[in-house]
Amino acid sequence: MPRTLSLTNLATLVTNDPAQGDGGPLGIIENAALVIEDGKVAWVGPGDKVPAADELYDAGGRAAIPGFVDSHSHLLYAGDRTQEFNARMSGRVYTAGGIRTTVRATREAGDAQLAATLKAHVREMLAQGTTTVETKSGYGLSPEHEARALRVAAESGLEEITYLGAHIVPPEWAEDPDGYTALVAGEMLEECAPYARWVDVFCEEGAFDEDQSRTILTAGKAKGLTPRVHANQLTHGPGVQLAVEVGAASADHCTHLTDVDVDALANSATVATLLPGCEFSTRAVYPGARRLLEAGVTVALSTDCNPGSSYTSSMPFCIAIAVREMGMTPDEALWSATAGGAQALRRTDIGRLTVGSRADLVLLDAPSHVHLSYRPGVPLVSAVWQRGVREV
Ligand code: NIG
Ligand code: FE
Repeated sequence: MPRTLSLTNLATLVTNDPAQGDGGPLGIIENAALVIEDGKVAWVGPGDKVPAADELYDAGGRAAIPGFVDSHSHLLYAGDRTQEFNARMSGRVYTAGGIRTTVRATREAGDAQLAATLKAHVREMLAQGTTTVETKSGYGLSPEHEARALRVAAESGLEEITYLGAHIVPPEWAEDPDGYTALVAGEMLEECAPYARWVDVFCEEGAFDEDQSRTILTAGKAKGLTPRVHANQLTHGPGVQLAVEVGAASADHCTHLTDVDVDALANSATVATLLPGCEFSTRAVYPGARRLLEAGVTVALSTDCNPGSSYTSSMPFCIAIAVREMGMTPDEALWSATAGGAQALRRTDIGRLTVGSRADLVLLDAPSHVHLSYRPGVPLVSAVWQRGVREV
């Protein structure tokens, strides 16, 4: 018989199920309880109605939320870019060129080093309440180095893996970007596809143009991968429109958008994933979250954790920025960091706490999720269950 665990005395429980509690999108139940069985949520509801369970855990009036879903990170790397950040904070501008520094270091690193760096970051994320992580290749940029990075991720058990051979054109292909595009869409894809679920392209001036991006995303689709796109990050470009055209699960960054881009997103199943750690760490203007939300676009929040443009692994930090600097409400930011991330990964089993969903949840040292932005920088994550197992 599988054992059941009942979490009781929850001041608030965010279910992300509008049918629960107050009827809002977060489906907040007050004075709640939650029962876990076999790694899944077996029951949610008011504490005075909780069914008997084998084990009890008294949450002491804390808030429970779904584990964060960080649907965009770049953790398959080696090396350090402290100096680049330091120079930027003294006035230098961020460009995609810094990626080359990380490519050099990553190619030199052994598999064990890549695996250890990935594991350390995933652990760091878990301690901050992130129970699902997507990560990408993109610092290998040859068939051999891209495939081994993705293999390392697959061997480490990471669930959401993205092939980003099209991060930049590496120096050895600088004179022949179309030749590199053919490699990414051909031999490199062949070697990488077995390890990945997603294909991504950095569609940007100085990276890949519209035609090159379309070629790679279409080839990825033909191999069974689903597209997601680094779109409209540094300048206005064709990325968002292309993401919608190819049916991407997500258009990420979305910093420079026209009304046509916003309309295209609103009329599609493509999620807009906003990465405020990136604008924070590059001193750039934040994306217009309100404009997207008011147009009816589904918005996700993620860290973009990478050594160049956004070296934070903290979803609570991103939530705090999204609320203070991007005009999102605390409810919207929490939804985007959980259910929004799940939607960006086309998952229905995570990002929510409803009967049958995965028992990935966080207890906050606070009575409500609003404290994530009300108390910025305070380590409020006090316990984390992943698949029903207490990890933090
Ligand atoms: O999402 N924009 C492209 N890629 C990363 C940055 C990578 C880097 O600077 O190393 C991003 O911001
Ligand atoms: Fe990124």
